[in-house]
Amino acid sequence: MSLHLELASQPLKDGEPVALCVFKGERISFSALATFGDEIEFGGEESETELISVASNGRLQRVLLIGLGRREEFDAHVLRRAVAAGVRCASANRLDALRVIVPEAGRDLSALVQAATEGAVLGQYENDVHRQKAEKKGRLERVVVVAPFADEMLERAVVRGRIVAEATNWARSLADEPSNLLPPRELAQRAAQMCVERGLAIEILTGAEIEAHGMGGLWAVGKGSAEPPALIVVRYEPTATADELWAFVGKGMTFDTGGISIKPWQGMEEMKADMAGGAAVLGAMRAIAELGSPRRLIGIVPAAENMPSGSALKPGDVIKTLAGFTIEAVDTDAEGRLILSDAIAYARQCGAQRIVDLATLTGSIIVALGDVHAGLFSNDDAWAAQVCRAAERAGESVWRMPVSDDYKKLIESDIADFKNYGGRPDATAAALLLSKFAADVPWAHLDIAGTAWLDEERPDSPKGATGAGVRTLIELACGS
Ligand code: BES
Ligand code: MN
Ligand code: ZN
Repeated sequence: MSLHLELASQPLKDGEPVALCVFKGERISFSALATFGDEIEFGGEESETELISVASNGRLQRVLLIGLGRREEFDAHVLRRAVAAGVRCASANRLDALRVIVPEAGRDLSALVQAATEGAVLGQYENDVHRQKAEKKGRLERVVVVAPFADEMLERAVVRGRIVAEATNWARSLADEPSNLLPPRELAQRAAQMCVERGLAIEILTGAEIEAHGMGGLWAVGKGSAEPPALIVVRYEPTATADELWAFVGKGMTFDTGGISIKPWQGMEEMKADMAGGAAVLGAMRAIAELGSPRRLIGIVPAAENMPSGSALKPGDVIKTLAGFTIEAVDTDAEGRLILSDAIAYARQCGAQRIVDLATLTGSIIVALGDVHAGLFSNDDAWAAQVCRAAERAGESVWRMPVSDDYKKLIESDIADFKNYGGRPDATAAALLLSKFAADVPWAHLDIAGTAWLDEERPDSPKGATGAGVRTLIELACGS
C-alpha cells in the first residue's frame, strides 16, 4: 500500500500526531500547543527521536520529537535523515498518521520540504516483502508535510521528493531481493515493466545475442550459470532538446559466488546485492522519466550470475571483449570489471559522450572508505567535479581516488592485453582497467561496494540495501 502524502500549512488537525524538530541545546518551542512544558528533557541530537503525549484542549496530543543536531550544522541532508528516523520511530510505535512540521531554518524552504518528503518516504522502507503478514512492522498510512505556507512551488517540492525517494526505495527492493527470485532475466523483466509504466524505451539482449555481439566479458562471466546473462539497455529521449548523450552504466551481478575462484562462505549471501549499481541506474532512470531532464540518457545494465560449474570461466582463461582488447581472467571473482568493460564499450558504441558507472566492484574500497564514502575514479577532472557536485547536492558522499598508469603493472598480463587481477591495491587496479575501455570519453566510476549495503541500520535506511547512487545520478541529470 502506498503512502498518502500531502502538503499543508496547518500544524494541528484532528488530533493527528505531530512531529516537531528540535535543535540540540535549544528549548522546545511550539506555539500551537499552549502547554508545552519546560520539564521535557530532549537532547536534540541528530536523528534522536522520542514520542511523548501532552495535554491539549482537554485531550492528549501525541508529539514526536525529532533531533536535528546543532543549528549551525543544519542543512537539507540533516533534515532528510531526521525525518526518516522520525517516520521509522512512528511506524515502530504503530502510528498511522504523522504531521511533520518543517523547521523554519535556512533560506531554501523548497529544498527543506523536498528533503522532508524524501525522508518520510525513505523512512517507510522495510525489507519485509517475504515476511508473513502478522509479523510485519507497522507502516504509516499518511504523512502531512507542514510548511509555513502551502503554494505551488512547495507542492512541486513534495512531488519531486516523492519521486526521488520512491525510486530509491525501488532500487533498494531490487538489491535486497534474493538471487533465486531475481536472476538476470527477472531483473530485465522488472526493468521492462518499469519502462512501460514510465514511457522509457528498453532493449534486452539475451545470452546468445550477447555472445554473438562479441561481448566476451559479459558472456564469459554469465555462461557458468543455468541463468543466462542479459544486457539491459534503457533509453530516455527528451523531445524538446537535442543535448549530449550521457550513459549511466550499473554492475548487475544478480549473484556473485566468485565463480571457480569461489568466495569463502562468510557473508556470501550479501552477494545477492552485487547488482546494486544496476538497480541504482534503473532507479535513477525511473525518476528521471518522471521528473524530466534536458539530457539524452542511456542506462546500461550488464546482468549475470557468477557461478562455478562445468561451463564456467576458469582462472587463466583469455577472453575477447567488445572493444577488441583481450583480458586474462586471473581471478574469476574479479568479474565486475569484465562485464563492465563490455558495457562501457557498448556505451561508446551507442555514441555516449559522457559516462558514469556505478558498481559494487571491490572489497578494497570498503577497506579504504568504509560504508560512508563511495570511491570516485575518473579520467576527466571537469567531469569528476561535476559528478562530485551532484553527489554533494544529493547528500551522498564520494571521495576521489586516482586513475593512474603508475599502477599499470597491476593490469599487465604476460599473455593478453590486460589481466583482471594484479594484487592488493585492487580498487585502483579495477578502475584503471575500466578506464582503458572508456578511453577518451569523459568517464567517472563510483565504487559503491561499501555504501550500497549496511550491516547496521541508519536513521534513513534499515540494514541491507541503501539505494546508494540513485540520488547522485538524478542530480547529475536533472540538477543545476
Ligand atoms: N562483488 C565483489 C566486491 C564486493 C565485496 C562487493 C564485498 C560488496 C562487498 C567483487 O566482484 C569481488 O569479488 N571483488 C574481489 C576482487 C578480487 C578477487 C580481485 C574483492 O574485492 O575481493
Ligand atoms: Mn567478485
Ligand atoms: Zn562482484
